[in-house]
Amino acid sequence: MKPADYLNEWVNKITPYSPGKTIEGTTKLASNENSYGPSPKVIAGLREFLPQVFRYPYKNLHVKEALAAYCRVKPENVVISNGSDEMVELLIKAFKGPVAGLYPTFLSYPIYSQIYNREYISSALEPDFSFNVQRFIKETWKANLLFLCSPNNPTGTVIELRDLEEIAQTGKILAVDEAYFEYHGITAKNLLLNYPNVIIMRTMAKAFGLAGMRIGYALADPQIAEAVRKVRGPFTVNYLAQEAALLALKDTDYMKKIVSRVLTDRKAIEIRLSEKYRVIPSNANFILFDVSPMTSKEFFEKMLEQKIVVRPQPQFQGFPGNYVRITVGTTEENYKLLDAISKM
Ligand SMILES: Cc1ncc(COP(=O)(O)O)c(C=O)c1O
Repeated sequence: MKPADYLNEWVNKITPYSPGKTIEGTTKLASNENSYGPSPKVIAGLREFLPQVFRYPYKNLHVKEALAAYCRVKPENVVISNGSDEMVELLIKAFKGPVAGLYPTFLSYPIYSQIYNREYISSALEPDFSFNVQRFIKETWKANLLFLCSPNNPTGTVIELRDLEEIAQTGKILAVDEAYFEYHGITAKNLLLNYPNVIIMRTMAKAFGLAGMRIGYALADPQIAEAVRKVRGPFTVNYLAQEAALLALKDTDYMKKIVSRVLTDRKAIEIRLSEKYRVIPSNANFILFDVSPMTSKEFFEKMLEQKIVVRPQPQFQGFPGNYVRITVGTTEENYKLLDAISKM
């Protein structure tokens, strides 16, 4: 047998995740990062910890306590992970399939389902990207683990809390991905009080500006939280990431100030984009819009000529239009973006 013959047969079918492109000398508005970066106190504070990186990470408990205080839950409700991307993996590892999610939505749910050989069911949003709870419940009846992203990437649309509660009432494991919570300000966290099957997923990659540090977390019933910890490696959140999380959580005022700046700029960009394109109103730090009659790839290339990297979206089956997603950057970057668009 050749080495490849020993592979699990489903591995050959995996479509790897394709991240937004980072190209030297360009302005990247393609991965929903926070271009302002973390609080300056994080950067200054981390220097002090650099000489200690020979140690294995040992501050999980401190990070859990700090996140619990930030989220107003108990530390036993918190699980941390190497980005919320790892949390998606941990949940798929820990729980039975089939897995279900929206269409379109964040691609890690179908990709990790493929990696773990779980059946994945996609339930499409309505043509205007709104959420139809009855349709979702009907189409995902077979699934045991549901991922609902709100605000949803890439649409920026949200799911009403009453709809999430109706789904929680099915008793299935419901993971609500709130990666963009700080930009929307509304959380399904209170469902945890009555529904131990609900898991809230969050990240410090977006509003806290720590995408490169890889810190995700989930809020869950203590029993579920313990089960998820069991399927995680012992040191997946590294030494510096733990310190960065602790420092960032000490300066949430900075994070809030930046979020408010991003929201102001988002509004201005939406208005300007609407003059030329059909814009999907956003509840996050990015905007999805239809660039027809141009194709998404053409738009991407025209922007790249002007040294701006945006995220062309694949053709969404059943959704007419050619979509591009842009991240709201710093005010300076946003001016560059609008200037480039006005020259097109
Ligand atoms: C909805 C959603 N969930 C999770 C993630 C991943 O976050 P992290 O960087 O913490 O892995 C992203 C990143 O773009 C996202 O859009």
